[in-house]
Amino acid sequence: MRIKHIPVLLDRSVDLLVRDPDGLYLDCTFGRGGHTRKILEKLSEKGRLVAFDLDDDAVKEAKMISNENFEFYKTNFSEINQFIENDSLTGAIIDCGVSSPQLDQAERGFSFQKDGPLDMRFNKDQELTCSTIIHNYSEKEISDILWKLGEEDESRRIARFIIKRRELKKIDGTLDLANIIKEAKRKKTKKHAATKSFQALRMAVNSELESLSRCLESLKNKLIESGKIVVISFHSLEDRIAKQAFKNKPNLVEKKIPLFEGELKQEFKVSKVLSPTDTEISMNPRSRSAKMRIIEKL
Ligand SMILES: C[S@@+](CC[C@H](N)C(=O)[O-])C[C@H]1O[C@@H](n2cnc3c(N)ncnc32)[C@H](O)[C@@H]1O
Repeated sequence: MRIKHIPVLLDRSVDLLVRDPDGLYLDCTFGRGGHTRKILEKLSEKGRLVAFDLDDDAVKEAKMISNENFEFYKTNFSEINQFIENDSLTGAIIDCGVSSPQLDQAERGFSFQKDGPLDMRFNKDQELTCSTIIHNYSEKEISDILWKLGEEDESRRIARFIIKRRELKKIDGTLDLANIIKEAKRKKTKKHAATKSFQALRMAVNSELESLSRCLESLKNKLIESGKIVVISFHSLEDRIAKQAFKNKPNLVEKKIPLFEGELKQEFKVSKVLSPTDTEISMNPRSRSAKMRIIEKL
């Protein structure tokens, strides 16, 4: 069965992104092509769209788009430098995280509700899997991942339970791991006990925050004047990275680069957080935690 992905903040994000139909655009996270297709609808024959993803199913989906002004590359979006020239991009969109089909296919190992292997890789060519972390990392390393990336306040206890169990026998898939986490947790929560831990492990397996930081850093030089970046994030740390990456660097002042009397030249403008409407959330509950920011090069 083909599982659908409902694109989050679709119309608003693409309306804000595409101001020049003749421009060059980048969809860093093609997924199932929701944002890509909407962008293509808005482009003229002169306009171009490049898209990236690491997932083999995204590669298959991208092959179904035959527009001549569309190119797709299976690559990490942190590798922008290899594909896009400086001062050439009119706009870029990054829709962070995991798509619904990835989450819903048990064999990908992202779900704590369906049994699958401890995998969680976006890119099947990568060596590191969730199983590597669960079976080879130290108690402290596991606990740090759960605490830093999942903001899981029972991280130490969960890590201790994982180590104890793996000493007895291999942890045998996502449901086994979810049950160990459930057993470890003392506090009852509205969400499934394994929600935060699974999110943290996925982010660690795919080095998600590192890739996002590198991508945003590269994009600074790729954008043309008044070019825009749309970042849709689902985690407070992702949103913080998007916001911080475009803050003026205080060391410019410290080094006394001659601007106007200690004034800092502002290069980028970062919008406030834009959120999905109640109607969108009721139609697509996955959009509930989405936060969108628009970054503009001045
Ligand atoms: C939320 S989905 C994007 C959905 C897409 N906007 C749509 O409408 O169909 C995120 C996608 O980003 C991909 N992805 C995550 N990290 C990536 C990275 N560092 N480089 C390239 N693709 C990445 C995932 O494989 C996933 O397909």
